[in-house]
Parts: sequence; structure tokens; C-alpha cells
Amino acid sequence: MKRCLGLSLASLVLLVTSAALGATEQPVRSDTQAELENFVIQDCGSCHGLSLKGGLGPPLRPENLKNLPEGAIAAIIREGVPGTAMPPWKPLLAPADIQWISHQLKTGALISP
Ligand code: HEC
Repeated sequence: MKRCLGLSLASLVLLVTSAALGATEQPVRSDTQAELENFVIQDCGSCHGLSLKGGLGPPLRPENLKNLPEGAIAAIIREGVPGTAMPPWKPLLAPADIQWISHQLKTGALISP
């Protein structure tokens, strides 16, 4: 499971990196789960706040997501919220990544108390 997540993130990182640099280098081996965490903090955090307490987008801490089942959170991440700034992430994130992120948001595993 984690391995699978890591691989898809590795391809994402490779994609982004090679697009940015126009390079065709081999991906650097690294701790990809940490990179996915970093992605949530940086990219989602750019709208939802670096500690997910909200900004342009609403806060995403467990207490804010009480009424949203994990599957609903995943659907929002996958499809975005049409008519709002929340974009669909399915072009960038594999279903397993989205599932993982939803679980982390629901449990608060990515935020410090
Ligand atoms: C460009 C800004 C932006 C980015 C980047 C962004 N979001 Fe959002 N997000 C929003 C906005 C705005 C909403 C509120 C939409 C609405 O009005 O229902 C939202 C809503 C959500 C919701 C629903 C929250 C709720 O209580 O209904 C979730 C879950 C969510 N975003 C997760 C994410 C995740 C995970 C990422 C990173 C992969 C992300 N968002 C990146 C702007 C953003």
C-alpha cells in the first residue's frame, strides 16, 4: 500500500521535475511518502493554510471534517468543488494518493496538535 503510494508519487515528482527542467533524468530515490506529506502541506496548504487551519479554503483539521466521511473527502479532492477555487486533483494524484491524503486529513496525522 505505502509502496504503491510512493511509486505513484515518484512518477508525479518525475513528471513535475522533468516538465520544470525539460530534463529526462532518472528519478532520484527518496522518501516519497514524506514528499506526499510535503505536497499536502505546501500545495493544499497554499489555500487551506500551512497548518490546515484555513485560508482561501476552509480549515481541513479533523474537527472540521467530522461530518465528511473519508470517501466524501476523497471525492472532493478527486473532482474539486466546481464554481470554487478548489481544483480537481485527479490529473495530478493517483487514486491511492487521494485515499491516503483523505485518511491523513481525517486522522490529523499530518498536523501538529
Ligand atoms: C487554489 C486553492 C485551493 C487549493 C490549492 C486546494 N484547495 Fe481544497 N478547497 C478550496 C476551496 C476554496 C474550498 C471550499 C469550496 C467550497 O466552497 O465548498 C476547498 C474545499 C476543500 C475540501 C472540503 C472541505 C469542506 O469542509 O467541505 C477538502 C477536503 C479540500 N478542499 C481538500 C484539499 C486538498 C487535499 C488539497 C490539496 C491536494 C486542496 N484542497 C487544495 C481551495 C483550494
